[in-house]
Amino acid sequence: MRSYTLTAPAKINLYLEIIGDRPDGYHELAMILQSIDLADQIELHSISTDSIRIYCDHPQVPTDENNLAYQAAELMATQFPEAFSKHGGIEITINKHIPIAAGLAGGSTNAAAVLVGIDLLWNLGLTQSELEELGASLGSDVPFCVAGGTVIATGRGEQLSPLPNLDNIYIVLAKYRSLEVSTAWAYKTYRQQFGNSYIRNTKDLAARAAAVHSGGIVKAIFAKNTAEIAQKLHNDLERVVLSAYPQVLQLREVFATQEGVLGTMMSGSGPTVFALLESEQQAQAVKLKMREIIPDEDLELFVTRMTTHGIQIVSSV
Ligand code: C5P
Repeated sequence: MRSYTLTAPAKINLYLEIIGDRPDGYHELAMILQSIDLADQIELHSISTDSIRIYCDHPQVPTDENNLAYQAAELMATQFPEAFSKHGGIEITINKHIPIAAGLAGGSTNAAAVLVGIDLLWNLGLTQSELEELGASLGSDVPFCVAGGTVIATGRGEQLSPLPNLDNIYIVLAKYRSLEVSTAWAYKTYRQQFGNSYIRNTKDLAARAAAVHSGGIVKAIFAKNTAEIAQKLHNDLERVVLSAYPQVLQLREVFATQEGVLGTMMSGSGPTVFALLESEQQAQAVKLKMREIIPDEDLELFVTRMTTHGIQIVSSV
């Protein structure tokens, strides 16, 4: 039986603007998504029984249909029933390194890896855009996670335009292990509080998305100007999450006062906060300093860097 091992990187949001409502109940977004070098490892094996099985070394990760990776395998089985019956079932083993429920797309990147891996296991020959389209039905961040890199994402988050790659910028991530923020709650609360400022017509939505394409942070990315990128970080969801979760606000404030930190922001709907730095040495120093200032065992800190890729194959047998 064949098997593949894939690496599935997390993401951060360098920019997240909520620009309107959508008829499907989601929000119209303009985001800049960035892959980072913190990744889970996913092993996929064909098995002789026609079932989907998930194993994960993290006790809080569900191993049933509540796991997005399970849903990804199920989607492939229903979309490609002949291949499913020819190749048999799938066993998925997830080695978790990305903190869960963190705003880092951990579940989405696992699902993207399952789509890419099953495409290989079953020799389907799907294109990147076909994989992204399948991913969109699983979650808004899944399409981005397929190819990763540095990307503008609009619509629900599934319409992707690549930007020049950024890979020499270092990141410190900070997250309280026991703190979880519901993404649905964050968007709902934002709508309740700020929904009256949403753009109402499609023409203006398109104009706003185009303005983001040509706006400050995108220019800074084209210029590869790290300090400028860091100054232009933005996340509308901070407006609701920072006031409801003082611990997240505290991480933002402590990061902002550390030497070498060029900019700091919450990722996605949180609760992870990240800081951008020029060098690994500076990032390690900030990590140590954070630990000193907040000696809480519940606080997880990671040093990582931006990366240029999404799902990659590590090995196949
Ligand atoms: O697409 P995904 O399942 O990751 O989204 C999680 C939740 O985030 C959705 O149920 C929705 O409440 C909210 N969301 C949204 N608009 C988006 C993306 C997500 O309202 N564009």
